[in-house]
Amino acid sequence: YLTLAIAVVGGYLLGSIPFGLIATRLGGAGDIRQIGSGNIGATNVLRSGRKDLALITLLGDAGKGVVAVLLARYLTHGNPMVIALAGGAAFLGHLFPVWLKFKGGKGVATFYGVLLSAAWPVGALAAITWLAMAAIFRISSLAALTAAVLAAPFAIATDQPRPILGLAIFMAILIFIRHRENIARLLKGEEPKIGKKKPAEP
Ligand code: G3P
Repeated sequence: YLTLAIAVVGGYLLGSIPFGLIATRLGGAGDIRQIGSGNIGATNVLRSGRKDLALITLLGDAGKGVVAVLLARYLTHGNPMVIALAGGAAFLGHLFPVWLKFKGGKGVATFYGVLLSAAWPVGALAAITWLAMAAIFRISSLAALTAAVLAAPFAIATDQPRPILGLAIFMAILIFIRHRENIARLLKGEEPKIGKKKPAEP
């Protein structure tokens, strides 16, 4: 139980590091919460016009999910239940960071970090889905929502253990809840394209 507690609490604390906020502050791009959608994720950091900071945010927010899963794997010699709980905790840490009064991000980059390290075929298929959708539609939220829907089918298709399937479903549900405003904009055709500050002119 001590190992489980370390993996879960460690995962949460890692997940709660807001790389987007830190990168934009240190990089001199101001407070990301005042820009674009107000989200602390890489998509919104890109709207500040700083590709370098967006890349740091993407790698940092995904990387913390990777580290949380690797820590759990190391501590338990690969117990899927503990890996799923630690990965889920890192994801929750990103959404509800104690440092930001529990007002965190939407979880997409951390979802990829967790999936790639917990079950790489699922992470790889989800990443291919994002890239394909983004290449076609150039809308970050739409690409993320599509990948989230497919994560569970990908886990089933690649024969993942139950806890990993549960983790994929759990993260997908929270990604949808977190993207409520994006979904409303998508339905109205007002969701901005990647890198654009404002929606495209009609
Ligand atoms: O990763 C979050 C992305 O799917 C949407 O971000 O800033 O457009 O709400 P944003």
